[in-house]
Amino acid sequence: MSRVVVGISALDCESAVAILVDGKVAWAASEERFTRRKQQAGFPHRSLEEGLRYASLSPKDVDAVAYSFLDARREGREQLRNFRASLADELRASTPYSARAYHVYRFARSTANGVLRLQPRYHRQLIDGLRVHQLEGKLTYVPHHLTHAASCYRTSGRDRVLLVVMDGYGTGECSTIWLGEHGRMRQLASIRSPHSLGNMYASATQALGFIPNRHEGKVLGLAAHGNPEPVRGKLLEHVRNTPGTYRIESMIHLEREARRFARELRREDVAAGFQSVLEETGVAMVRHYVERHETPFVAVAGGVMANVKFNQRIAEIPGVEDVWVFPAMADAGTAWGAALCDSGAAAPSPAERLRDAYLGPDYSAQEIEQALRRQDLQPLAVDDLERTIAVLLTTGACVARFDGRMEFGPRALGNRSILVRAIDPTTNDSLNKRLRRTEFMPFAPVTLWEHAQACYRNIDRGRSSAEFMTMTFDCTDRMREESPAAVHVDNTARPQLVRRDVQPSYHRIVEEYCRLTGIPTVINTSFNMHEEPIVCSPDDAVRAFLDGDLEFLALGSHLVANPRAPRTREAMDALRDSRMGVAATT
Ligand SMILES: [Fe+2]
Repeated sequence: MSRVVVGISALDCESAVAILVDGKVAWAASEERFTRRKQQAGFPHRSLEEGLRYASLSPKDVDAVAYSFLDARREGREQLRNFRASLADELRASTPYSARAYHVYRFARSTANGVLRLQPRYHRQLIDGLRVHQLEGKLTYVPHHLTHAASCYRTSGRDRVLLVVMDGYGTGECSTIWLGEHGRMRQLASIRSPHSLGNMYASATQALGFIPNRHEGKVLGLAAHGNPEPVRGKLLEHVRNTPGTYRIESMIHLEREARRFARELRREDVAAGFQSVLEETGVAMVRHYVERHETPFVAVAGGVMANVKFNQRIAEIPGVEDVWVFPAMADAGTAWGAALCDSGAAAPSPAERLRDAYLGPDYSAQEIEQALRRQDLQPLAVDDLERTIAVLLTTGACVARFDGRMEFGPRALGNRSILVRAIDPTTNDSLNKRLRRTEFMPFAPVTLWEHAQACYRNIDRGRSSAEFMTMTFDCTDRMREESPAAVHVDNTARPQLVRRDVQPSYHRIVEEYCRLTGIPTVINTSFNMHEEPIVCSPDDAVRAFLDGDLEFLALGSHLVANPRAPRTREAMDALRDSRMGVAATT
């Protein structure tokens, strides 16, 4: 009899479901992809339903449900502890009395709101949701940071590894360090709220006019354009680093400072200042434990680890040889982490590294054909799809690719991706315009695994992470010359390395492109419209394809052209010249 565990992530933001059968992940997907609402909160009904169906399981087969928070009463108690600590900080802070009184009032109000309203509400939603799916009575609660730690340890491919978790807040903690050894995890350090680097960074996001806990990537993109110094010095008056730990003197005061910086300084400089303090503080803490426990291997998770540049800095710590970033590092990934903490199952060996993140739904040929028919789209007759896509890419056309199971985590890794060549630096502006996105970071590249060394420096310090686009690397001269559209102003890129043994068809597209151009890299950006979740179903894909005015859509084994898109005609001509055997015309 196999043991089936359903993991459910926190319901406050982007809820997700993971299903583990005998410790192996059979399904993982965020609810937002099904409801089509970005960061969908609440009970993940759809993902649970689809997941059980995908794995051919009924509720009766489920042995346990693991939730990545404690129950409302205990989470509430942690929040009250957090409030007392904040209060003490505020009273110590050197702000005027009236400002302190106001801060304390605001903190008290938000804590009361959390304890009396939000926590009980999420808890009710959880219990009600489980009842709907006949899973009541199987629930276990797991402390939040433990779920993050388990997620990065059990997928790391290492037996002895330092685990670093940093996020906004969870079960009273915001930064924790663990030692994973012989399959067990031991906590070495815990920094409790309110000393949250995640919340500190989010205050910059908000002050700069973006949505906190969503648009941190925009702040990171801006940071490379700025000078950190004016803000860095001021911030470090509030952030105290001591060996192995740090303190943020007054969180509320810091938020106020962030707003003042945003009013008075260039936003690039504000972003650069916050980024540099995050890097400095986080790296000092990690470095202390790397040295003390002599661990060359580090694995990380938590929302802060969505910061790809911070991950690069961790990889640059002297003595660190390899950093593994759990691909679903933010809270959606805790669904998986919580399920991994299930005590009734034999835990998967941490020495088995995660192979891929294609863990969501896939669709039959019939469903794909129906989606095309619904929009009157006539597929082209193509005898070699991968090679054809490569030829189209050489002309500068965009090809959206939809195939196989959907990725889990924030990145599209080829199965729900838009591909375009990286040789033209103006691509970023033109494609962002078409997709109605505002980004301050260039698109990310996908590079053949075999050519990684030629394109990126120090790739071995994060080769596994680079399969999942979770870390930046400095680029080589060759990369900068051949693929300028994918290189940021600070000479870094956030690559996906594609392996033939993991993704043969996707790998072959880039390989054929390389054969035609000599360049082992194209751009891979997520297949979605502005502020929309990444596409999930063939219908979503067709809609986004037409809406974004993209030239081509490779939907399963079919290829369709959009005659209204700017480069379609030119690309079709190139295809005919290449004698690729395309029968239909647009
Ligand atoms: Fe978290």
